[in-house]
Amino acid sequence: MPVPTDTTRRYRILFVCLGNICRSPAAEGIMLHLLQERGLSRCVEVDSAGTYAGHAGELPDARMRAHAARRGYLLEHRSRPVTDDDFDRFDLIIGMDDNNIDRLRRMAPDVEAMAKIHRMTDYARHYVHDHVPDPYYSGAEGFELVLTILEDACEGLLDTLYPRK
Ligand code: 4NP
Repeated sequence: MPVPTDTTRRYRILFVCLGNICRSPAAEGIMLHLLQERGLSRCVEVDSAGTYAGHAGELPDARMRAHAARRGYLLEHRSRPVTDDDFDRFDLIIGMDDNNIDRLRRMAPDVEAMAKIHRMTDYARHYVHDHVPDPYYSGAEGFELVLTILEDACEGLLDTLYPRK
């Protein structure tokens, strides 16, 4: 796994996609839910951002909010672009696809920052995908697939950081 395990550590995680209205706010909502379930809310800070600022200030896409709500996730994040400060503030910066990861790598100020960038699907254990597909122009099944991949990957990520006995 790309992240060392240390059960005493606290982490700050930033999820990143393109618009920050579909995939990354869903990852944030799923991770917040998991942290609460496992009593780890005080150990991990979670946020999300986009490489494209065109939706800044908006709530997540209504379709994503509806699909997420059916699985019990409330998505209340307001879209914001990734900033240079994020590379200082966060320990893990997790991109959803090649495009997001390339953009993040180009923004990273140094090698330390570069090492914080990871791929969401590398943490998935049950569903094999090399990226989280952009659902924006898809139908309902695209949003469901995103949520299924993200649930798997969020569990895998949390188990990597805080292994269950
Ligand atoms: P996201 O989805 O990157 O998962 O938030 C998208 C949101 C907006 C657009 C594309 C993808 N857009 O083209 O505006």
